Formats: sequence, structure tokens, C-alpha cells
Amino acid sequence: MKFKFKRILAAAAMAVGLSAMADPIVVKFSHVVSDNTPKGQAALKFKELVEKALPGKVEVQVFPNSQLFGDGKEMEALLLGDVQIIAPSLSKFSKYTKQLQVFDLPFLFDDIEAVDRFQASKEGQALLSSMSSKGLMGLGYLHNGMKQLSATKPLNMPADAKGLKFRIQPSNVIQAQFEAVGANPQKLAFSEVYQALQTGVVDGQENTWSNIYTKKFHEVQAAVMESNHGVIDYMVVTNSKWWDGLPADVRGVMSKAMTEAIKVGNQNAFNEASDYRAKIVADNKAKVMKLTPEQTAAWRKAMLPVWKQFEGEIGADLIAAAQKANK
Ligand code: LMR
Repeated sequence: MKFKFKRILAAAAMAVGLSAMADPIVVKFSHVVSDNTPKGQAALKFKELVEKALPGKVEVQVFPNSQLFGDGKEMEALLLGDVQIIAPSLSKFSKYTKQLQVFDLPFLFDDIEAVDRFQASKEGQALLSSMSSKGLMGLGYLHNGMKQLSATKPLNMPADAKGLKFRIQPSNVIQAQFEAVGANPQKLAFSEVYQALQTGVVDGQENTWSNIYTKKFHEVQAAVMESNHGVIDYMVVTNSKWWDGLPADVRGVMSKAMTEAIKVGNQNAFNEASDYRAKIVADNKAKVMKLTPEQTAAWRKAMLPVWKQFEGEIGADLIAAAQKANK
């Protein structure tokens, strides 16, 4: 009897041991946008690919819509190990590097293809490790798209923005861009934008077609100007210490899966921006208006002094390399 009891105990201990051994590595991927955006799709693709390649070994948990951490908190959470992968917009890294501010310079890139070429260049790739001394490692760039302006009234010329309050991402370059046209920029987290527009805390904002549509900003704005004056793209980042500490095979699979997932997100960004635009037009809430070449030239002229203002922080060479990506 005593012998049998011991055997049961031993079997139970082994089962506990085995289940502990089989605990999957949990990877939390947090972001602030909807699932049906380029970033949301890339995150879900990453989950699918990793869990397929490493069944039971790795579990990827995706948290969209600022559910787990919003702007301002996600970077700290990454460094503390509370989340393992995030993909903030390139406008949200200035606390860690000033170089990425290059992406915020108004009218620098002609289109998303030029942004893509710059990111793929030697200079663009080097920026992925520009925050390594801070414990952040860039796994790749991910596209969203070109920014459009929206407000409570049409913004045909820069003077139309004068005195209006605009929500901006936490970027001093974007702040200077709006100040250059006499507007009042206010840094707000992405999760607060809809309500700020709805209640009149701000009069306008700038964002991509997919973010405007999926967060319904067009429902609380009178006009969306097709301005393409800047870009919102992302860097997928992880905590270097955590990444380096992963078993080599797991790291290899994740790295490959991320490259694939980014391709899917980018495909979505390239192909679907015009669909989101069309949906906003079809909703017929805000008027979608395209800036004429003359109007674009006026906005460009008004905002261009921002380049000189930030040349010292960003580096003239880096700005020149980015410009070279235009055809
Ligand atoms: C914003 O804050 O407007 C965007 O960066 C949100 C996002 O992640 O696309």
C-alpha cells in the first residue's frame, strides 16, 4: 500500500514537472490601432506564423486598440518586460533618438514608395539599431501611409489652419509644423483623439486614411484634405535583452515570421489606402477634398522652415539621404 502511494506521488510530481517544462513562451504584442489596419493585420499574421511554426512552444498574445498599453506607456512597458513587441509610429521615439524625427519632416517624401526606399537604404537600416544603447532593438519598419489633414472646416490654404487646435502625436517636429501655419498643436494619445475631436477639445488632426476610417475621425470632422504632407510609419521594436535571451531556434523563427508579417502589413498598406479613402467618401460625413498643386505648394512653402529648425538634431546627411529616395 505504502509502495503504491509513493508511486502515485512520483507520477504526480512528474506530471507537474512536465507541465512546467511545457509552459509556452508568452509574447505580448501591444498596439494602439484596430485589427483591420496594416499594423493590426501584421500583428495577427505574426501570431499565426509563430504559433504554426512553434506549436505549444510560443504563444503570441495580440492586444490592439491600446487595450493593454496606450501611447506613452508602451515604451516603458517594453523596457520593463511587461510587453515584448510594440510597433509605435516613428513620431513617438524622440525620447530615445532624435534621428527618427527625419520621418516627421513635412513634405520630405513624395509618396510611400519613397519612404520604402529610404527605409531599405543603408541609412534607413542603420536607424533600426539607433536605440540599442537604450535597450530597444528595431526588428523592421512597417508602413501605414501618407498623412491627410482633417478639421472642422476645409483647409485649402495654410491660412485656413490659423488659430485652430490640432491633435498631434508626441513629436516636436510635428508641433513646429503646425506652429509654422499659426495653428495650436496639442500632443494627445491616439486613444483620446476621437473624443477630443467630438467634444471640440481640438478642431482637427492629421492621420492616414486607414486610421481616420477605422477610428471614425471623419464622422466628427467637416473636411478631410488629401494633403499627403507627411507619413505615419512604424518601427517594430523589442527589448534587446529579452530578444537576445530567447533560445536561438525560437528567435530565428520569430525573426522570419516578423519579416513575413511585415510584408503582409505593407501589402495591406500599399493596396488598401485608396479603399479606406473610398469608404470615407462613401460615408459622406466629412467632405474629402484634394489639394490642388498650387495649394500644395503654399502648404509646402509655409512648413518648409521646419527642416532647418531640426537639421541640427536630425543631421543634414540623414535628411539628404531621405531626400534621395524621391525619384
Ligand atoms: C497616431 O498616434 O495618430 C498614430 O501613430 C497611431 C498609429 O499607431 O497608427
